[in-house]
Amino acid sequence: MCNLRLLELQDIWLVLCITLYVIHIAGAISVHSPQRSMTRSVQEDVVFSVRVTCRGVPTLQWTFMSGAVSRSIGSWRPDGGGSFSNITADYRDRVEAHANGSLGLARLRLQDAGFYVLTVTEESGSSKDSGFVLKVNEVIYEDLQYLSISALVLVCLAGLLMLSMWLLDRAYKKIKACRRHQEQRTGNETELQPL
Ligand SMILES: *[C@@H]1O[C@H](CO)[C@@H](O)[C@H](O)[C@H]1NC(C)=O
Ligand SMILES: *[C@@H]1O[C@H](CO)[C@@H](O)[C@H](O)[C@H]1NC(C)=O
Repeated sequence: MCNLRLLELQDIWLVLCITLYVIHIAGAISVHSPQRSMTRSVQEDVVFSVRVTCRGVPTLQWTFMSGAVSRSIGSWRPDGGGSFSNITADYRDRVEAHANGSLGLARLRLQDAGFYVLTVTEESGSSKDSGFVLKVNEVIYEDLQYLSISALVLVCLAGLLMLSMWLLDRAYKKIKACRRHQEQRTGNETELQPL
C-alpha cells in the first residue's frame, strides 16, 4: 500500500517535470520575421529583419551557408547581461548587428547568395534556428563593362592585324626591291661578261 503511493507520487513528479520541460523548450523562443526570402542586386544592401522574443537576454548567431560552404558571420548579445559583439573579420566592415536580432549586410556580392541561418540561444541553453534565403542578381553595368572590355580587346586585335599587314606589305616591297636590284646587278654582270 505504502509502496504503491510512493510510485504514484513518483509518476506524478515525472509527468510534471516532462510537461514543464516541453513547455520550456516549445514556448520559450519566438522569431518573428516579415520576410524569409529576398532578392537584391550586386552592391545593394539587405536587412534580414527579425524580432526575437525569449526569456532573458539571448545570444544571436548568424551563419551563412551555400553548397558545402558554412561560414560564421558573427554572434552578438544585445544590451543586458554581458553584451558583446563578435563579427567575423571577413564581414566586419559590411555587417550591422541590430539588438532585435536583425542582420544588415551592405554592398552585396554575387557570392553572398545562399542561406542565412539565425540561431537564438537562451541563457538556459535551449536554442532555435531560423532560415532565410538571399538571391543576388548581377547588375546591368557589369554586363556593359564586360561588353566594353570585349570591344576594347577586339579593337586592339584589329589594330594588331592592321599593323602586321602594314609590316608585311613593307617587307614584301623591300624584298621585291631587293630582288629587282639583284636582278639588275646580275643583268649588268652578264652584260659585262663578254668583255
Ligand atoms: C529590428 O530593428 C531594426 C533596426 O532598429 C528595424 O529596422 C527592423 O524593422 C526591426 N525588425 C523588426 C521585425 O521589428
Ligand atoms: C568570436 O567568434 C569566433 C568564431 O566564431 C570564435 O572562435 C571566438 O571565440 C569568438 N570570440 C568571442 C570573444 O566570443
